[in-house]
Amino acid sequence: MDHFLYHNGLLHAEGVAIADIAATVGTPFYCYSAATLTRHYHLFTEALTPMPHLVCFAIKSLSNVAVLKLLGDLGAGMDVVSGGEYRRARAAGVPGERIVFSGVGKTREEMRLALTGGIRQFNVESEPEMRALSEVAVSLGVVAPITIRVNPDVDAKTHEKIATGKSENKFGIPIARASEVYAEAAALPGLRVIGIDVHIGSQLTELEPFEQAYLKVADLTRRLRSEGHSIERLDLGGGLGIPYARSNEAPPLPTDYGALIKRTVGDLGCEIEIEPGRLISGNAGILVSSVIYVKNGEGRDFLIVDAAMNDLVRPSMYGAHHDIVPVVEPAVAQDLQPYDVVGPVCETGDTFAKQRALAPLAEGDLIAFRSAGAYGSVMASEYNTRPLIPEVLVKGDHFAVIRARPTFDEILSRDTIPAWL
Ligand code: LLP
Repeated sequence: MDHFLYHNGLLHAEGVAIADIAATVGTPFYCYSAATLTRHYHLFTEALTPMPHLVCFAIKSLSNVAVLKLLGDLGAGMDVVSGGEYRRARAAGVPGERIVFSGVGKTREEMRLALTGGIRQFNVESEPEMRALSEVAVSLGVVAPITIRVNPDVDAKTHEKIATGKSENKFGIPIARASEVYAEAAALPGLRVIGIDVHIGSQLTELEPFEQAYLKVADLTRRLRSEGHSIERLDLGGGLGIPYARSNEAPPLPTDYGALIKRTVGDLGCEIEIEPGRLISGNAGILVSSVIYVKNGEGRDFLIVDAAMNDLVRPSMYGAHHDIVPVVEPAVAQDLQPYDVVGPVCETGDTFAKQRALAPLAEGDLIAFRSAGAYGSVMASEYNTRPLIPEVLVKGDHFAVIRARPTFDEILSRDTIPAWL
């Protein structure tokens, strides 16, 4: 459930009419609902109670500092994958002890940043990384808490570009080699091994791959303990999918996921961490756009809108479906019409939907792409020198611009022409 509903025939975010935001901010823009973010975060904390746990929001899905502040103030931890994301979490007031650092390519500089600023743990992904972290920690005279990410070789049954738990993927160490790698970690100075990390992919719509992975982690916990390691914490990653189309089968709920965690690893006495991104932020955001032209093509009508692939890349990158709804509620009996919904970018791939049945639309009409909160604004670019679009946060009857649209002067001022040219 989210908080983007029609009231009196107009799409609202909580208590604010989308058309009112559009009139103030201009289109296109992202709009997030604080109530939805809050509700989704609580679904996870409730699902994991009474196990000791920390829900670490995967910042990569939506990284605006205002959103991080909202979640951080609720008690959320943060999963970061770069020095930039670490800085965002800290700028949002999240203490280091609630920040976990994931990612296959952490640089020594990023390690130093987190070790001096405070960190809950590094989720180490390889032996070279482990050795580098040991050196950096020793040089700073501190001890780095670590888990090691294991690759359980499980098929997450999701889009191949976002599956991470198969042996051919670049992530983690093969679970079969865990004993050897943990032994080396335990012997390295400057590291303290505290747990195990696993993440098998994103937009999982079935629980079974999680179950397979977590059972392997439970076995590994017992084995590593018998080998003398102190396994106190299990980071079980993110990845729970969301419904993108209303007609889709409903993916499992956080309560089912929580029950699965209890069933598979609940008896080990470990503190549980999870790193959900999409389920918290995905349906908490929409992308609002307006129709520039309706163009009659050869056997089809194009709806040319002012948002494009540079603003929301998921349809062109993954063939992802996003529901599109008009901001003015259509009459119930209105006939639908098929449109190809496209942006202004000069690529055929700049297509949001083909032959999508929508109530008839005209120039200037506002539409919203639903489920755009996760991996929307964070993946945007300025391709075709289209400015990054603003982000707006709604809470009750209030809205605020939480990232302004840059001016063209700002964009052009980033380029410099060398004196010798
Ligand atoms: N933890 C780790 C280590 C991850 O790599 C990811 C996502 C997450 C947590 C959060 O997963 P989530 O709960 O959001 O599924 N751009 C793609 C998704 C990429 C996901 C990458 N890793 C998309 O638009 O579908």
